[in-house]
Amino acid sequence: MSETPLLDELEKGPWPSFVKEMKRMANLKPYAKNVLLQLERSYREKVTHWKHGGIVGVRGYGGGVIGRYSDLPPEVMPTPEVHTLRVAQPAGWFYSTKALRKLCDVWEKYGTGFINLHGSTGDIILLGAPTGNLQPCFEELISIGFDLGGSGGDVRTLSCCGGPAFCQWSCIDTLDMYHELTMELQDEIHRPRFPYKFKIKISGCPNDCVAALARADLAIIGTWRDSIKIDQEAIKEYARQGVNISGVAARCPPQALEWDGKELRVIPEDCTRCMRCLGALPKAILPGDERGVSILLGGKATILQGAFLGWVIV
Ligand code: HEM
Ligand code: SF4
Ligand code: SF4
Repeated sequence: MSETPLLDELEKGPWPSFVKEMKRMANLKPYAKNVLLQLERSYREKVTHWKHGGIVGVRGYGGGVIGRYSDLPPEVMPTPEVHTLRVAQPAGWFYSTKALRKLCDVWEKYGTGFINLHGSTGDIILLGAPTGNLQPCFEELISIGFDLGGSGGDVRTLSCCGGPAFCQWSCIDTLDMYHELTMELQDEIHRPRFPYKFKIKISGCPNDCVAALARADLAIIGTWRDSIKIDQEAIKEYARQGVNISGVAARCPPQALEWDGKELRVIPEDCTRCMRCLGALPKAILPGDERGVSILLGGKATILQGAFLGWVIV
């Protein structure tokens, strides 16, 4: 009889399973196995056995580690401390395989080996290490070029889209901005001294792939102030291929596009830079040339719509 009959259900089906991955580590480390068994027990009893509480951390930093303890008795959970480390992601989430392998080796040595790539903010979330391992684990992470991210009432790890590294719509160098701001705000990221968390996210264009509008206290979003650029030859080519250009014009929210069967024209002062026509006709329409950013404050929406999006600062 399996020790984890309920979790085993989550291994069935054609999709990847976190249970399968957790079992791989559980076979190597009793510490990881105990976490797996605790999860099974929670599924059975329909109650969490994690409790929050107590500040844990590494020398010189107030953030980056989240304390987690098991409430199960020692005969079931001999090491009840299962703390989480938040490791700051590189700008745009670009890694070499070599760097990731080193990270995995450090984590297998000091923690459960369970990694969440990535948290909603984007950090690499290392799930589960005992208190005594936090400092040596941190030191090894630093030695391979990683750093902890933010937690608690501090500036949280920033996030930015891949921007100019792969995206034709990027109006700004999101990666450089992320790096510069992260360096500038080192103290604010590592030492919580605000009443609440503060998030900064950078998107290269109004598509806003990192959801800065909804989820950041300070959103920096690339934009342009002249007109979208329309390549009429490419538009004709789309039309030849049967793409419904008048449909694209009809779906422009402020009705700023006109299509006469030969040419697609824009009324620049009516365009709200919603990105729809650029997305529909990517080979033909690009952002304008006079590029900069919109800065927004105060986004705290739980989803990507609603009354709590950021406010543009003018
Ligand atoms: C025990 C307390 C909490 C724990 C352990 C926790 C854990 C986490 C983790 C691991 C992430 C992903 C972080 C990352 O990728 O860097 C996250 C993100 C987030 N948390 Fe929490 N959290 C806690 C409390 C809260 C509270 C109190 C709120 C709001 C009132 C909150 C709102 C959020 C939001 C909105 C995100 C996603 C933000 C984004 O899109 O960047 N969390 N949390
Ligand atoms: S936010 Fe814009 S620039 Fe950044 S990746 Fe998304 S579409 Fe590209
Ligand atoms: S970006 Fe949006 S508002 Fe501007 S022309 Fe295209 S569809 Fe219309």
